[in-house]
Amino acid sequence: MNILVLDSGWGGLSVVEHIHSLLPGLNIHYIADNKHLPYGDKSDAFVTQRVLELALYANSQFTPDALVLACNTASTVALPTLRSHLAIPVVGVVPAIKPAALTSKSKTIGLLATPGTVERDYTHQLAEEFAEGCDIVRVGSSEMVHLAEAWLAGNRVGTRILKEILAPFEQSKPDVIVLACTHFPHIQ
Ligand code: DGL
Repeated sequence: MNILVLDSGWGGLSVVEHIHSLLPGLNIHYIADNKHLPYGDKSDAFVTQRVLELALYANSQFTPDALVLACNTASTVALPTLRSHLAIPVVGVVPAIKPAALTSKSKTIGLLATPGTVERDYTHQLAEEFAEGCDIVRVGSSEMVHLAEAWLAGNRVGTRILKEILAPFEQSKPDVIVLACTHFPHIQ
């Protein structure tokens, strides 16, 4: 079997690792849309159109059995469009707010994602549906995406810059933080 994994950059390799460990025989094609990284500060219409173009092109080239959109930023806006244009299963990744709400004792949850993902209607709906009564502290950072890319390219990531980005969590002290961008587990 062939699958296609798509992200704006190399972040989605964190998803590939899990797929590979569960299904080592699977043939995985990976698209990193470096030209338009980061997706997190692009408009909904741009991200939807771009991932649709890439998915249609790659589908015609590799004829995959399924598409994995390994990107929260794109999944929270583009899944319905992709599913309506492709005949294969399309699997996305969306912020893990539900398990975070179930795990949190203090009911203060951190949401670390891209600026696009933290503001999406989809994300607000997840919070309303699955995290009622929880206080969600949202941090949207494209800088963190660039840091993860740099790290994956073999460069160092300074702790001072990470501390600056994460400062809102210092004040609000969530007991669970959702890493709602596939780039972030690389620098967990
Ligand atoms: N890796 C992506 C995500 O899960 C997108 C990062 C970006 O391009 O802004 O949201």
